[in-house]
Amino acid sequence: MSEAKRLAGEKAIDYVEDGMVVGVGTGSTVAYFIDALGRIRDRIAGAVSSSEQSTARLRALGIEVLDANAAGPLKLYVDGADECDPHKRLIKGGGAALTREKIIAEASETFVCIVDPAKQVPVLGRFPLPVEVIPMARSLVARRILALTGGQPVWRDGVVTDNGNWILDVHNLAITDPVGMETELNQIPGVVSVGLFARRPADVVIVGGEPPLVL
Ligand code: A5P
Repeated sequence: MSEAKRLAGEKAIDYVEDGMVVGVGTGSTVAYFIDALGRIRDRIAGAVSSSEQSTARLRALGIEVLDANAAGPLKLYVDGADECDPHKRLIKGGGAALTREKIIAEASETFVCIVDPAKQVPVLGRFPLPVEVIPMARSLVARRILALTGGQPVWRDGVVTDNGNWILDVHNLAITDPVGMETELNQIPGVVSVGLFARRPADVVIVGGEPPLVL
């Protein structure tokens, strides 16, 4: 499995152009991309990072990490996913970094998603949907999600996001209308962000393999 992640991560280097500030996601697949980025670090201007974890890895390789506000619009964002459907819509947030990932995806012209084959699904929802919530709204949001979707929200106890918030993982969903569900759940007071990337899906999906599949 990690071989597929490595092949996907290294293939994404094809999208990096000289002088770019690269948006960088979070997770074990992205770790391979960061390592490959380290090998061409003199060709890029720096990175905008979606998590403390990725920031540490980037800096350890000598890549400058820039503030998102200072960097402005980005040409490229590379990130993994927990699930990917045939329309390049995603579930993300297994690593609890969904909010910063969503901000960078929105700020980027091209979102290249790197996955291993196990992440491909016909319909999103087998992977529990992560929702980042303001701590005081946890119970309210869980009740609303149950009523709206029928899915079972489970508090990811002990996990605090980089933004100081909590995560609910919503089990037993079959997400036939990802844009509609993302929009609806975004409206609940206390929701910071929903791990559905459907309103802004990936532009390119690279599935790790020999050779990698580019969708
Ligand atoms: C982080 O919050 C997630 O969105 C990751 O992108 C996702 O969990 C992918 O992780 P792996 O690359 O480790 O499978």
